[in-house]
Amino acid sequence: MRILQVSAELFPLLKTGGLADVAGALPLALQAAGQDVRVLLPGFPAIVAGLADARPMAELTAPWGDTARLQLGRVPIDGAPALPAYVIDAPRLYDRPGNPYEDGGRQPYGDNHRRFALLGWAAAQLARGLDAQWRPDLVHAHDWHAGLAPAYLAFAPPDAGHPRVASVFTVHNLAYQGLFAPWHFSELGLPPAAWGIDGLEFHGQLSFMKGGLCFADRITTVSPTYAREIQTPEQGFGLDGLLHSRSRVLSGILNAVDDQVWNPATDRLIPRRYDRRQMTGKAFCKAALQEELGLAPQPDALLFVVVSRLTEQKGLGLVLEGLDALLAQGGQLALLGSGDAELEAAFRQRADAAPRAVSVTVGYSEALAHRLFAGGDVTLVPSLFEPCGLTQMYGLKYGSLPLVHRVGGLADTVVDASLEDMASGEANGFVFGGFDADSYARAVRRAFALHQRPADWRAVRANAMSRPADWGTAAARYLDVYAEALG
Ligand code: ADP
Ligand code: GLC
Repeated sequence: MRILQVSAELFPLLKTGGLADVAGALPLALQAAGQDVRVLLPGFPAIVAGLADARPMAELTAPWGDTARLQLGRVPIDGAPALPAYVIDAPRLYDRPGNPYEDGGRQPYGDNHRRFALLGWAAAQLARGLDAQWRPDLVHAHDWHAGLAPAYLAFAPPDAGHPRVASVFTVHNLAYQGLFAPWHFSELGLPPAAWGIDGLEFHGQLSFMKGGLCFADRITTVSPTYAREIQTPEQGFGLDGLLHSRSRVLSGILNAVDDQVWNPATDRLIPRRYDRRQMTGKAFCKAALQEELGLAPQPDALLFVVVSRLTEQKGLGLVLEGLDALLAQGGQLALLGSGDAELEAAFRQRADAAPRAVSVTVGYSEALAHRLFAGGDVTLVPSLFEPCGLTQMYGLKYGSLPLVHRVGGLADTVVDASLEDMASGEANGFVFGGFDADSYARAVRRAFALHQRPADWRAVRANAMSRPADWGTAAARYLDVYAEALG
């Protein structure tokens, strides 16, 4: 099957969150399953700079007048076969300061509707045979940035002699919907039938997310629990009715872990490698991390780590509230994150007040993230909601036991260290139910209590490190969904 994956980010070229990890790993897993996969990406500077063997493929003029050059090259990935990539080269749209979505002052760019409509529109052009050498059977669009691809496909005129190109849309996070002023709809080159309650209109605004939700043949999201949660008013962000009405074509496929990137036995970004049979390397990583971060060099101090975007979603207010108790029990906290200015300031203040016990690094560092999972004892992910979550899975894999709120993909991947689940060998972390300071604090106390029983701690850690999280399994599920979409 020829599959075109469409997303705004892709590790290792450009990453702001888990979307990039998934967009980087899934195509390789599909390739390994024998599929013919290509990706389509906007030409953000890091993507253009990272593309190998790029050559111009076509000139594009969007319905609203923007022009771009489509490049075809490949994503350079060590040890993997080449991943062909189409990149929309349009510096006027994509070569800007800030992150892919916002300017330096964290304001969304005013022309985001055009910047990302171009992504969906270009996907539809490829589906129409823009590249005579390679035409996809199926387009798989990720998140609102690519949400118009299914809409453009649905409204493309019939293509005599060529089978219909199917579409799959994956929701990575329903909280980000790509909402714009309604008058931009007329720029998109879509027919009036694409507007309205069964189309791109959302309470009077233009919704890119609805492009995917209304017009894709199949919808997926990144965990089974989140697939259920988004059909409820509490977690549906106003789209629960629509999602519920499409529940027969909606499924949850749990993300996995890219073993080439996240594996303590082979990771070149950590000071000493280890695996679950040979854990001395982890103790070394912990000591090295404490030294690097200026934390007290205590092997027995339970070291809690956080690697996170600093947004309300991540529930880090609970970590701040519970910090005194955590420190009073002899714990340490090391955080790496960036985002919300108030959260940054609050965590910085705590580090200034107790530099030997709390370390806060504001910023983005792939390498430090690896060292944190390797050196940490517990990975904190107390998210208010979490479609899947990858950091708890990295914590599992690196033996830094996740402590999570029972929600979304966190509920699907972490099993609390209760006596019965320890006895059955399934316990792999700490899970709390109520999203409140007390429930969180009790889970933290549970972590300390388990740590006081070294044999039990080691057993739970071994469970964590052996949890299967193979992209091959997820890719097989996606192939089933693709077959349904084509069917
Ligand atoms: P989300 O996509 O909602 O941010 P995930 O847990 O799915 O949450 O994925 C987050 C990804 O981003 C992980 O790979 C994590 O290691 C990474 N990450 C988040 N913040 C940082 C940071 N400040 N520095 C380095 N990596 C980060
Ligand atoms: C989103 C979600 C996160 C998920 C990631 C990759 O950013 O917030 O939970 O793991 O996408 O699917």
